[in-house]
Amino acid sequence: MHMQVTEAVDAARGLSGEELRALQLERLRATLHHAYENVDHYRRAFDAAGVRPEDCRGLEDLARFPFTVKDDLREQYPFGMFAVPRERLRRVHASSGTTGQPTVVGYTERDIEVWSDLVARSIHAAGGRPGHLVHVAYGYGLFTGGLGAHYGAERLGCTVVPASGGMTARQVRLIQDFRPEIIMVTPSYMLTLLDEFERQGVDPRASSLRTGIFGAEPWTEEMRREIEERAGIDAVDIYGLSEVMGPGVSQECVETKDGLHVWEDHFLPEIVDPVTGEPVPEGGTGELVFTSLTKEAMPVIRYRTRDLTRLLPGTAWPAFRRMEKVTGRCDDMIILRGVNLFPAQIEEIVLRTPGVAPHFQLRLTREGRMDRLTVRAEARPGATPEQRTEAVETIGREVKDGIGVSVAVEITEPETLERSVGKIRRIVDERE
Ligand code: DLL
Repeated sequence: MHMQVTEAVDAARGLSGEELRALQLERLRATLHHAYENVDHYRRAFDAAGVRPEDCRGLEDLARFPFTVKDDLREQYPFGMFAVPRERLRRVHASSGTTGQPTVVGYTERDIEVWSDLVARSIHAAGGRPGHLVHVAYGYGLFTGGLGAHYGAERLGCTVVPASGGMTARQVRLIQDFRPEIIMVTPSYMLTLLDEFERQGVDPRASSLRTGIFGAEPWTEEMRREIEERAGIDAVDIYGLSEVMGPGVSQECVETKDGLHVWEDHFLPEIVDPVTGEPVPEGGTGELVFTSLTKEAMPVIRYRTRDLTRLLPGTAWPAFRRMEKVTGRCDDMIILRGVNLFPAQIEEIVLRTPGVAPHFQLRLTREGRMDRLTVRAEARPGATPEQRTEAVETIGREVKDGIGVSVAVEITEPETLERSVGKIRRIVDERE
């Protein structure tokens, strides 16, 4: 028999810092042995670095072990990173592989149990309770979002509507008819849904929804405000990545909305300098690195996420550190004439500009030897020509003053920019 989820949540939340560290060390040592003994890649990597699992005597010793990067997973395509025979896997997920070799991840029965428990814990932290109706509009399939959310919501004792992504008009209809309290979806697709509510002449604030659990892509505090106001809900952040598990690696608590508590009893976070790989002093910003502590099928040791954030002390879950909202990924950084710029910085500016809808795109082109960035944002329906002219100036000025680089700004007609049905693509790179 499973322990009731709410009891398990209380037990984890009540851990002292000392108890948590002891649990982490015990699990870390077991994971290092498991990886070294069962995955050729780790055996070779540890040997090359001259470390053995038994060299880990304290949590600080983890820094002596080699990093794992996405390319390591690509090279082991499809099943080379697994630490158990293929027959013991109950499921695989995979990245889309649009930018090269796809990566595959796998789960044993127990891995699926742990994942479900952690997503249940996440939904609970977001305010979800047994008996709630949960509309899941993350995509189902090889992407971990749909099935990850689904199993977690079931585990918590909720009723799940597995809507998946797409067929937007029908999503609105289902929300109207089934009256879910909770929606789990990417923030960009939530905007698409809100537009559809309005198109159908339905006030989203009058819907049954009370909470949105949004993740799988960066989103800003400005986006939180936009969604909360338009939908009349609490919007909280859920983070995760397939290589480490999927959704539910960390979660923001609805009562504090102050960053995401990392489920540290299962994933050990570190922050390193993205260029040198050196540890960043406590509280500093850098690349997030994870070591799994309980995974059977695919343990990951010091996996470089490419996500930028910093670690903060626990609040609602006192022993569990928080990570600041991820608003930048190394991979999404645009270097424009020597200035580093992230799409989220543009999102902040676009979302506070009057007369402009929360839809934007960043178009990169090259003129001669100069890179040029055009911010394309959409006019709100009913925006006046003066508002549009003003928006061009405001956005250009705020980017120049706040980020320090000149960009072109274009305000398009309403309903013209591509809409999201899952993870949105912000950067359109038209340089050769
Ligand atoms: O996106 C897992 C997920 C599904 C998380 C649903 C949350 C909700 P991947 O497709 O492997 O897995 O993509 C992982 O997405 O490294 C981040 O760059 C980004 N990401 C995920 N959650 C957030 C978030 C899923 N809350 C990659 N904020 C990660 C910012 C996020 N970025």
